Amino acid sequence: MGGDSSERQVSLMTGQEMLSHLDRDKYDPYPIEINNGSELVEAIRDVDVALLALHGKYGEDGTIQATLHSLGIPFTGSGVLSSGLCMDKDIAKKLIRLEGIHTPNWMMVDSRMAELDGKALAGKVREGLEYPVVVKPNSGGSSIGVQIIHSGEELQSALQEALRWDDSVMIEHYIGGQEITCAILNGRMLPVLSIASSSDFFDYTSKYTDGMADEQVIHLPPEIEERVRAAALGCWHALKCSVYARIDMILRDGIPYVMEANTLPGLTSASLLPKSAKAAGISMSELLDSIIEHSLL
Ligand code: DAL
Ligand code: MG
Repeated sequence: MGGDSSERQVSLMTGQEMLSHLDRDKYDPYPIEINNGSELVEAIRDVDVALLALHGKYGEDGTIQATLHSLGIPFTGSGVLSSGLCMDKDIAKKLIRLEGIHTPNWMMVDSRMAELDGKALAGKVREGLEYPVVVKPNSGGSSIGVQIIHSGEELQSALQEALRWDDSVMIEHYIGGQEITCAILNGRMLPVLSIASSSDFFDYTSKYTDGMADEQVIHLPPEIEERVRAAALGCWHALKCSVYARIDMILRDGIPYVMEANTLPGLTSASLLPKSAKAAGISMSELLDSIIEHSLL
């Protein structure tokens, strides 16, 4: 847990939540708070399995997975390739679009392009996208550095903010609709949750502050539920996920638009995947058992 990504605090919460729910009759957990990589290599040598509670850069993007793999230490969740694919939202969207899965239109901007003056930049966006758009760090998480903007005038400052977090920024068409999320555990979709947040969107504060978002199991008409399942499992396969993942979507006019797949979704007390598991009758301890057991197969 820990690490030095923008989601360090979320990771520490995930780690604590895991620690408090691991069945002590089965496991002898040894928490390792990562501050830098060399400490990790020393601390981890004797573990049977690394239960990853890391989010974001170095933790969710294949880096730690590759380190553990080369040390011969089993770890939980998706492998090196899938972690890298999912962390790069641009690559992930390209792959799922190839599968015919809907995802909002987007374009990528790097720091060189962001230096264009506001008007020129807004013109480039207008060529391919309609406002409103969402400006987000390409490899970020927990909505850190994300803004919804409604016109070209707001573009430059939103880009500067996103570029603080990543050197590659996505500008994505904002699809107004019902935000939903699909947790997948070992290839099976758990109950779909709808998210209603009291902010403009499900931002960092509403994600992690009690009472600022309402997440409920959503009962969809069978035909739409089937489309959502096909999109979620389509992403799972296209992005080569394993063990567990969470696919975030917007549902508009009965069409699910996938925004992203998370290979190390939060397991904090406020997080979505444990809520979805609970709705399927799976407690947090059972969820951790399942994640560990399937990761060792
Ligand atoms: N990026 C956060 C941890 C999530 O997807 O739950
Ligand atoms: Mg994410």
